[in-house]
Amino acid sequence: MTSCRFLVINGVVSHSSDVPPVSTLLETQSGAYTTSRTHNNASCVLFWERHLCRLADSVRILCESKPEFILGSQNTRVSLFSSSSLWESTIRPLVNDSLSKALPIALEKRNFGEELAITAFVSGNLDKLNDEENLEEVRISRVLDVYVHVGIYVPPVFGIRENGAHLALVGCGRDVARAKFSDWVRLRKCLEKFRPPLATELLLSNDGDRILEGCVTNFFVVCRRENNEATGEYRHDHKSGYSCEVQTAPISDGVLPGVLRQLVIEVCLSKGIPIREVAPSWSKRELWEEAFITSSLRFLQHVETIRVPSSWEFLESETWKDVSWEEMRFKEGPRIITAEIETEIMVRAGLEGYPVSNII
Ligand SMILES: *[C@@H]1O[C@H](CO)[C@@H](O)[C@H](O)[C@H]1NC(C)=O
Ligand SMILES: *[C@@H]1O[C@H](CO)[C@@H](O)[C@H](O)[C@H]1NC(C)=O
Repeated sequence: MTSCRFLVINGVVSHSSDVPPVSTLLETQSGAYTTSRTHNNASCVLFWERHLCRLADSVRILCESKPEFILGSQNTRVSLFSSSSLWESTIRPLVNDSLSKALPIALEKRNFGEELAITAFVSGNLDKLNDEENLEEVRISRVLDVYVHVGIYVPPVFGIRENGAHLALVGCGRDVARAKFSDWVRLRKCLEKFRPPLATELLLSNDGDRILEGCVTNFFVVCRRENNEATGEYRHDHKSGYSCEVQTAPISDGVLPGVLRQLVIEVCLSKGIPIREVAPSWSKRELWEEAFITSSLRFLQHVETIRVPSSWEFLESETWKDVSWEEMRFKEGPRIITAEIETEIMVRAGLEGYPVSNII
């Protein structure tokens, strides 16, 4: 089987017969990125406007706080600045231009039933400046390299329930979590030594109790409301009719503002499902009814098991084998709230897809 991957750099189609997987591109270069995919027989790109806005935000945040995450580690002395119109004026037309060249080629090679995974990656390249230019103040728009990587994505067959996720908490929250950047792809490899067998996603926490997010997903629990201590009564929201609430860590705790994370919040608000942005607390897990993780490629995936080290000292350990784990297994059966949110997100995916015909 020949690999079906396509790469356009600054509007120029790469004719390399062997375009690397997107993970290789991200591991070898510093920059901000976002990944979405097509939907409905490759007729639209899922939530593409939101992805481009988040990409521009990531670039701006990195420029302001961690320019080396855009320029590569050897360039820590350069001061980058961006303008508030970076998104409209610079990033959007550059990404659109490269995407408009990648999509027709990829669509032609696509087989029946396949969709396309699309990654837009923005990196800083100081070689674009003249030698004598002052590196004290570099306008980011002058040094941008824009990559659009397109690969084939085979969505799970509709109607067949996907397997649940098996999560393990293995490390601390990220630096500049509000931006999605490629150096994290390299950094998160250090966590792999703690990955127990069969764990499908790794969770992050700064204290071993309050769970922030997954390495490549956002994390949610559906939590029964706590007893009212004064009356001993179970708190029931008569207005909404729900006796539980959805919880996910707030952005201010240091989590990625995932596109799907934001959609889950919007769906809960519009459906009247109680939602609270608070980091789910492992010590209150007896109240957890359901849990799920979100990502742009797979939307929602329900959680089957979560493992957490019984002591936070585990960070000193060498491998997962040296860690003693506490495990929680969710009960089988219908996951009512997760299913309700997922159904509504599928509806919005249809409504908020960016038509491919507007790009090519
Ligand atoms: C899917 O798209 C392809 C190419 O655009 C088209 O030939 C095919 O008929 C479409 N399939 C369906 C089921 O719409
Ligand atoms: C994207 O680029 C294509 C091709 O250059 C152009 O036809 C289209 O109008 C552009 N779309 C947007 C939204 O800028």
